[in-house]
Parts: sequence; C-alpha cells; structure tokens
Amino acid sequence: MELEPKQALLDEGSRYANRRTFAIISHPDAGKTTMTEKLLLFGGAIREAGAVKGRKARRHATSDWMEIEKQRGISVTSTVLQFDYMGCRLNLLDTPGHEDFSEDTYRTLAAADSAVMLIDAAKGVEPQTIKLFEVCRMRGIPIFTFINKLDRHGKDPFELMEEIERVLGIRSCPVTWPIGMGPDFQGIYHRMEGRFERFTSRTEEMTSVQVPDLNDPALAEVLGEALWQKLKDDIELLDVAGDPFDADLVRQGKLTPMYFGSAIANFGVASFLESFIQLAPAPGPRETNAGVVRPDDPVFTGFVFKIQANMNPAHRDRVAFVRICSGKFARGMTVTHVRTGKRLALTQPQQFFGQERETVDEAYAGDIIGIHDPGLFRIGDTLAERGTLEFPPLPSFSPEHFARVSVPNAMKYKQFHKGIAELSEEGAVQVFRQANRTEDLILGAVGQLQFDVFVYRMKHEYGVDVEMIRLPYQFARWLASDEPVEHLQFDRYATLVVRDRDGRTVLLFQTEFAMQWLLDKNPNVRLHKTSFEL
Ligand code: G4P
Repeated sequence: MELEPKQALLDEGSRYANRRTFAIISHPDAGKTTMTEKLLLFGGAIREAGAVKGRKARRHATSDWMEIEKQRGISVTSTVLQFDYMGCRLNLLDTPGHEDFSEDTYRTLAAADSAVMLIDAAKGVEPQTIKLFEVCRMRGIPIFTFINKLDRHGKDPFELMEEIERVLGIRSCPVTWPIGMGPDFQGIYHRMEGRFERFTSRTEEMTSVQVPDLNDPALAEVLGEALWQKLKDDIELLDVAGDPFDADLVRQGKLTPMYFGSAIANFGVASFLESFIQLAPAPGPRETNAGVVRPDDPVFTGFVFKIQANMNPAHRDRVAFVRICSGKFARGMTVTHVRTGKRLALTQPQQFFGQERETVDEAYAGDIIGIHDPGLFRIGDTLAERGTLEFPPLPSFSPEHFARVSVPNAMKYKQFHKGIAELSEEGAVQVFRQANRTEDLILGAVGQLQFDVFVYRMKHEYGVDVEMIRLPYQFARWLASDEPVEHLQFDRYATLVVRDRDGRTVLLFQTEFAMQWLLDKNPNVRLHKTSFEL
C-alpha cells in the first residue's frame, strides 16, 4: 500500500511531508529494544535480529559508545535511527532504557513530533511511562499506544484502556484488537480495515484475511465458537461505548490510537507501523522569538537537542544533534550559530542509519543531523542559514539528586574544571556553585545514573578521579525575588543557597516543608522549577 508519494517524487519544498520523527517511551523491560529492532528490520536498516543493543543482547551491541553501557547492560545514551518505509522517512529518536532516566530523555522528546508508548500487557502503565507521558503531554504531541507481549498472559484489554485513562488521563481508541491472549492468543482484528491477522510465532507464516463481516461463520471455524462470540461482543461494545476515532483529537494528544501485538514474534508490528505512518504528523510549524517557522520555509533552521561526546572511542569526538525545523540542509552549507553570531561551515554532517554513521548530503525538516562540535554548542542553541531568530530554550527540569564533587589531586584541577564545563554544556549534569567555596562544586541530576556516567567520563575522558559526596537535598528551585536572598527568612539547615552556571540564585531544599516554609515567610518570593520560567 503506497500512502505517501515516494521521496524522490516530492519536490524539495515538500519533502518534509513524508518525515515522521518520533520516540518510543516505555518502562524498562516493556520491549522497546525488541520493538526498535523490528521496526528497523522493516525499514531494512538492519539485516539481522539482535543487532540493536539491548539489556541482554550485549554481545551484538550496535553501539559500544560507552564502556559503562556494557558494564551495566543498559543503554545510557540516546541514538537516532533513520529508516524508510512505505515511501516515508522515519526518524526514530531512541531514549535511554533505564529507570534512572536522565534529562537526555526529556530533551529528546523536544525534538520528536510524536511518541509511541509501549506497554507490557501484563504490567500495564508503569512509573517511567507516567513520567515520560507527562513530558509528551506538556509538548502536546500525539501519542500512539502499542500493547506488547500478547503472546503471554496479561491484563484484559478493556482493563488496560481503563487504566490508561485513569492513570494518564488520556482517552484511547483501539485500531487493532486482540483475540485471546497468552496460549490462546489467536491474533488481532483490525477495526479500521475489517481484517483479521492470525497469530503464529513465525512471521513468515502469518496470514491476514479480510473479514468484512464479523458474523461470517468462517471466522467461527478459525477462532472457535467462544472466542468468535467474545470478539463480536468486544467490537460491538467498542463501537457503541468506545470513543470514536477522531484524527484531530489524536493530533492534539487527547486521544491515543491503540494497537496490540507481540514485538518478539514480530506480530502486529507491521499493522501498527502502517497505521502510524498514516496518522502520525509530519513536522509542523515551530515557535521562535521572531514568529513561527514553518517546515516548508526555504531558509534552513534547526536547534541542538543533544550533545554527545565520545561516540566513537577511536576518535574522541563530540557530536551535536540538530533537529531540522525548516528549509533544506545541504552539505558544506554555512550557517549562523545564533547565540554567538559565529558563522560555521557544516562540512561533515552525519546521519545514522541503524548501526551505520554516514555523511549526509542533504536533509529536510524533521531530520536529525549530527555535526562535529568544536566545543561551541550548548543544548537548545539555534542554527540558521540567515537571520537571528532563536528557538525557545529546551526545558530543563529540576534535579532530584545532588552531590558535592571535588578533586583530591590538586594537580588535576585544570582538567577537573575543563571536564565539568564541557559536561555541563553537554547537559550531562547541572552544575551549581556555593558562595565562598571554590574547591568544590555541587552537581544536580534528574537520575542517579547521570552521576555514575559523570564519574566514569571524568576518569576516562579527562583523566580525573573525582570524589562525590551525596547531599540530602531533594529539589532545586530558581529564585525570583526583589530582595537579596540574604534578607529572606528560611530554614538554613534544610536549605542551601547556590548559583547556577549563569549566576542565577537557586535554592536547594531537603524537604517540601522547607520549601513551603520559605514561601509562607516571604510572600513576595516566587520559586520556579526551571530557569526558563524566571
Ligand atoms: P526494553 O528495551 O524495553 O528494556 O525491553 P527489551 O526489548 O530488552 O525486552 C525485555 C524482555 O522482554 C526481553 O526478555 C524480551 O525478549 C522480552 N520481550 C520483548 N517483547 C516481547 C514480546 O512481545 N513477548 C514476550 N513474551 N517477551 C517479549 P529477556 O528475557 O529480559 O531478554 P532476552 O533473554 O529475551 O534477550
């Protein structure tokens, strides 16, 4: 089925229209690695199963970027994977698959136009799914739900729909519907296409038959009387009492299309992907400080959403990932780094095809390119062919973990500060300073894992052994106050006054109570969760 014109047939101004730039959000173990791999197999970006790095599939790791990933069996860094399917170019922004998730994940979602929420049928909505879902909701992007592991016994599909609505507050509309589950799993019924797909654990044997009428007794023969009756009842209930499909609500992120399947058996994945390509949005307009930028505007613009060092340990390099928002990118073009006004020639831009890195000659809105970072870029920086417009800063979230970091070996002082400066620009950790203390710094992170990665990278990339002492603070709040902080009343035992790297005053609180106390005693003071709200 050809849904969209082929890439080559689109004129340059509209090539963005067949881009789908998305991320998969899920709780660890829901099957994200497995799903990613199946999607890449469809797109021909990889040739064999086991090629994508997963928790257990370490021997076949696609990326060995960081030794720590291997040691802990997790994917710390996000990757960008591109593949073509049905005339569309899909940019899959992979996010770290660990509970100790980091700010990286949040930022990656800022570059996505939609998200796929992967849920384990037996576990339902899990904690990390909730956190990531919240970020998607803040951005108002469409969310597609894939219920995975139907080959095992799981929760009732109606119960899952109810749970998604109750816990996440989003209505759902099943596009496919499961027939049985676990050992009785017979397949899925595609409500929009009136089609039954029979489950076998071997993809090559999968059969798909049109079933224009669910009352067709031939279906009873295949499913057995009991499952046939249940399917008819379920579909009737969904048709009568369920939410009707509404493309506008999907686009606004208020209704999630829902799909069922088994990623490991590669079942239900193709139906999902085809429907996703049809329903997911192409890149849309984006706000800037100088008005809206449209993807078909001819002037190239983009923003840095991620900086990653040491992608290839053989050549210690730093790559800035840029999400293109408008225009055409052509290799060798010169752009302005708007924050500094510097002009840069982008001579070695790279794109990522599954496990390969390739030099890219041209790219369009929705695409992600990796460019060499000579130490110039910060997260959120805008690049533009001309003009001075800037995309809004990427939201940074209040750290929840804090540690004091110092370097015991005074000879390493210079490398220590270089490492800290570079890693904070990369967004690997947030750095705070305390007045009158120059010998140490305070680091903030959204997840504990960020600290482990920090310690590891300081040692391996900068040759510095750091000393970390965990601090008991739980929240960071940026202070908005007409009075200097010294004049405010607060609990000096449970509150620490620090400055962020731009010199803004930040308060670290040990408890919610201490934070509330300060607000009660100083009614004119405002506390913000991010610096951007100031
Ligand atoms: P993650 O990236 O979300 O953490 O999940 P991953 O794909 O690594 O999958 C987690 C576990 O769930 C793996 O099993 C994987 O094989 C299994 N899994 C993924 N999809 C399905 C599915 O559709 N059905 C079933 N039954 N299992 C699925 P594991 O035992 O942890 O690892 P492995 O030994 O299979 O590699």
